[in-house]
Amino acid sequence: MDGRPLAVAVIGANGRMGSTVCRAVEAAPDLRLVGRYDQGDDLGDLGGADVVVEFSVPDASLGNVLACVERGVHVVVGTTGWGDVKLARLAAAVTAAPPSRGGTGVGVLIAPNFALGAILMMNFAAQAARFFESVEVVELHHPAKVDAPSGTAARTADLIGAARDAAGLGPVPDATTQDPDGARGARVHGIPVHALRVRGLVAHQEVIFGNVGETLTIRHDSLDRESFMAGVLTGVRRVADHPGVTVGLEHYLGL
Ligand SMILES: NC(=O)c1ccc[n+]([C@@H]2O[C@H](COP(=O)([O-])OP(=O)(O)OC[C@H]3O[C@@H](n4cnc5c(N)ncnc54)[C@H](O)[C@@H]3O)[C@@H](O)[C@H]2O)c1
Repeated sequence: MDGRPLAVAVIGANGRMGSTVCRAVEAAPDLRLVGRYDQGDDLGDLGGADVVVEFSVPDASLGNVLACVERGVHVVVGTTGWGDVKLARLAAAVTAAPPSRGGTGVGVLIAPNFALGAILMMNFAAQAARFFESVEVVELHHPAKVDAPSGTAARTADLIGAARDAAGLGPVPDATTQDPDGARGARVHGIPVHALRVRGLVAHQEVIFGNVGETLTIRHDSLDRESFMAGVLTGVRRVADHPGVTVGLEHYLGL
């Protein structure tokens, strides 16, 4: 950049994550908060933002991100619920988008989890996956969370499933034939995923691997929303260097 502070706007600014991001941007000397938007607000020119941070609700996120992309503004997205259909629509829009104010192609970072420890947990789980016969994912969150399973849990299961496929492992062993109430959880890429919603929790996940005679548990705890801010600001500072759609902050971290 040219030395001026990067102009940042936040969509979902009244929410738990959005308001925390606003404070983090205001506290960063190299960033300037130029817009706060929430449900029903006219996005206008997004306050002249170079980068928008989007933390809203799964139903609204695609529309918000497309509005930014169509204006040539980079986006860092924390809202969960991005499946293949939405990603394909976004990729097409990014290809057709005007260049950013910096002259580069528009970059969009979609990060199911901005906590560094969570990214490492996913990375370690993907590494461990091919060595174990069994694996299950348990995600634990505050009861105000509207989507299940969490984006992090779904991505972890995808990474584990892909690693198992590549290693030629079959399905996880499971003799269950009767489960009328869904007690065995959801299946993501063949991996059982269980979602707990408990007052007092923030965002937590365990990945439990098993072989005959041993288990390995990888656990991450986000104890405060502040834990996401270093990752969010890393995304804000680097998104312009990554034109196109990137899924996962790990791609910005050299992992
Ligand atoms: N990627 C991560 O690291 C991470 C971490 C925590 C939460 N999340 C996700 O971020 C999202 C937001 O979480 P939260 O806890 O801040 O939720 P929240 O309910 O506190 O905030 C959501 C905000 O979005 C606003 N909103 C609703 N519709 C909108 C629209 N159409 N346009 C603009 N704003 C709109 C709401 O009014 C609210 O202020 C969720 O999807 C959550 O799962 C991601």
